[in-house]
Amino acid sequence: MRRVLVTGAAGFIGSWLTERLLERGDEVVGLDNFDPFYDRALKERNLETARGNPAFRIVEGDLRNRSHVSALFSDGGFDAVMHLAAKAGVRPSLADPAAYYETNLIGTSNLLEVMRETGCQRLVFASSSSVYGNNRKVPFHEDDRVDAPISPYAATKKAGEELCHVYHAVHGFSILALRFFTAYGPRQRPEMAIHAFTRRLFAGEPIPVFGDGSMERDFTYIDDVVDGVVSALDHVLMTQTFDIVNLGESEPIRLSRLVSALERATGREATIDRRQVPPGDVDRTFADVSRARRLLGYEPRVGIEEGLRRFVDWYRRVILEQPPTT
Ligand SMILES: NC(=O)c1ccc[n+]([C@@H]2O[C@H](COP(=O)([O-])OP(=O)(O)OC[C@H]3O[C@@H](n4cnc5c(N)ncnc54)[C@H](O)[C@@H]3O)[C@@H](O)[C@H]2O)c1
Repeated sequence: MRRVLVTGAAGFIGSWLTERLLERGDEVVGLDNFDPFYDRALKERNLETARGNPAFRIVEGDLRNRSHVSALFSDGGFDAVMHLAAKAGVRPSLADPAAYYETNLIGTSNLLEVMRETGCQRLVFASSSSVYGNNRKVPFHEDDRVDAPISPYAATKKAGEELCHVYHAVHGFSILALRFFTAYGPRQRPEMAIHAFTRRLFAGEPIPVFGDGSMERDFTYIDDVVDGVVSALDHVLMTQTFDIVNLGESEPIRLSRLVSALERATGREATIDRRQVPPGDVDRTFADVSRARRLLGYEPRVGIEEGLRRFVDWYRRVILEQPPTT
């Protein structure tokens, strides 16, 4: 049995990862400040299954507060840490960049420092495909240049990778930074396209489509993401490493195709509200996952049509039938 700290455990990816780790017999401590970026009731619901497991404990605390982070480590260390907590999302980062710097940079630095002080040296860091900016070469490879981000969010994720490298090079940490490519599935953050479009389809509201609909995203189903994260945790436990690894589906989908697939999955017809592409949004994402295959045995399994069916099924059962109340 391993003892794992999951920061951001109440969130979309964190709550699924927590359940998977508990299922395989690990002990999990979760840290989350229930950031009001989206409804706390959704995060509480994300934790319902995990809370029923005695091997799980959630601590309400803030990464920006060093003493909250230190307190987590006071009753024994962790075999490994999965650092998911962050201010996420590209567009809101343009509206309030300082909030992104505080959590994603100062918060990550606090975590790394407390890990160093307590001798806990195995970490998986949640980075993002947004670090590739408007990279013209596809698919995106980890060795491509990533020094031209186009949002504060992307810049903080790139800087986070670099902070991790410092702790590897100077203090001997074993670290993988995973670049996630638009994760989706049940519990997806409500502002993300698939969730927001589904809500609008069921409400009979128009769907905002940016540009001519040719924008592409490499949507990755949550079960595939969690498979990759669990293998990454095992990898940092078993090796002494620093690496950056793409976790995508490696199958980019045009926005226009996404809307048609959602129409089929929901049985609703979309009204399109064409808008200009907002600043910060990249034209496309497309992961080269050969490194993930080689290092982690990663093999994405859930294609977009099946993934959307599962998402819409969850949306009907959980969101439409039992709307969250705060
Ligand atoms: N979902 C995606 O498609 C995607 C893509 C690329 C990268 N990522 C990264 O993966 C991670 C998880 O993303 P997600 O979609 O699950 O987001 P999420 O918002 O659902 O989860 C993040 C959690 O972190 C918590 N948090 C925020 N600030 C905190 C702080 N200061 N202290 C403690 N907890 C804090 C939030 O309350 C939230 O529960 C993030 O780092 C995100 O940047 C996600």
